[in-house]
Amino acid sequence: MRLVLATDAQKAERDVVTYPAWGPPLSVEGYMEREERLRAHPWSRAELKSWLLCAEDGGVLASCETYRTDSLLRAPDGALTPGDSFAIASVFTEERLRGRGYATRLMDLLAAELERASPRAQSALLFSDVGAAIYQRSGYQEFPAWDWRLAPEPGEPSALVDRLLTEAELGAALARMRRPEAPFFYWPTAAQLDWHLERERIYAELMPRPRPEANGATVGESTALWCMLGRTGTLMVLMFDARSAGDAAALLGAARRVAHRAGLSRVVLWEEPATAPLLAGVPGARREPREGSLPMVRPLRPGLPSGSATPIPRALWV
Ligand SMILES: CC(C)(COP(=O)(O)OP(=O)(O)OC[C@H]1O[C@@H](n2cnc3c(N)ncnc32)[C@H](O)[C@@H]1OP(=O)(O)O)[C@@H](O)C(=O)NCCC(=O)NCCS
Repeated sequence: MRLVLATDAQKAERDVVTYPAWGPPLSVEGYMEREERLRAHPWSRAELKSWLLCAEDGGVLASCETYRTDSLLRAPDGALTPGDSFAIASVFTEERLRGRGYATRLMDLLAAELERASPRAQSALLFSDVGAAIYQRSGYQEFPAWDWRLAPEPGEPSALVDRLLTEAELGAALARMRRPEAPFFYWPTAAQLDWHLERERIYAELMPRPRPEANGATVGESTALWCMLGRTGTLMVLMFDARSAGDAAALLGAARRVAHRAGLSRVVLWEEPATAPLLAGVPGARREPREGSLPMVRPLRPGLPSGSATPIPRALWV
């Protein structure tokens, strides 16, 4: 068995077989269009690789994708070493080939390849929808996964915040957000955030449904960025930097009102170590164990801190 990069034709062939797992409620044609558009996005063109585990005869046994993501390792003196981490998506084995260890073999060969090919490699990151056990075998450790959920509420979205943010402003908004204090963390690019908005645009067109009127808000020095998950009617917070409990409540209030106007059914924010204490005081916010999207990390070099201090904002999800 060997690990190879997929050709464009092989990527389209994989779209056909992965449709039952990730396509509905889109039609097959809609899902193919979604995949083509996401692959054509600037962030994907720069950072996406599609991998195949192939048998000796060339037959495809399993597949996945990696998106290179910036990560930073903090030395004891505070100095930051920038590096590469790889967010793994779309791990897939056709039903007729499952249970023979192919996905596990793919993950093992991929980690070895990432370690070999990138001298800057720091970690591999994934979001499991099938529990922790299968990926633990390949050296991944799961992180806590809690969501804060809020109901949409009627009202003027910009009340109580300084301003709402349009999609064109996400880069500038990201630049003013605080980097985490953690010994190791990931930091998305503006293009990476826009990839989430591209998903929003695609679902808004294909479902079809209206897009929310804003993709974030600011109050004082605090900032929230969000996108619509069209399939589940969720306003999902991508990045959240609240300097106080009051700012957290104001930003999430804006998100709730934007969600209400867009006809969405919930607002969701992924908990991070620094945000949890602020959220406890936000009226109407409920903390719940996350369903799916379990963050798991595998070091790709020695000396990476273990444990759950690493913040994993939703912006890192692929
Ligand atoms: C998950 C998946 C990639 C596993 O592929 P595979 O080649 O059969 O994997 P392996 O043979 O290496 O490992 C199989 C293990 O995964 C476990 N597994 C598979 N699907 C699972 C699920 N839905 N929930 C929990 N565990 C699951 C199996 O129980 C098995 O464990 P066991 O060996 O202890 O019995 C495959 O089932 C698949 O493509 N599923 C649909 C897409 C998907 O959900 N991908 C994962 C996204 S995070």
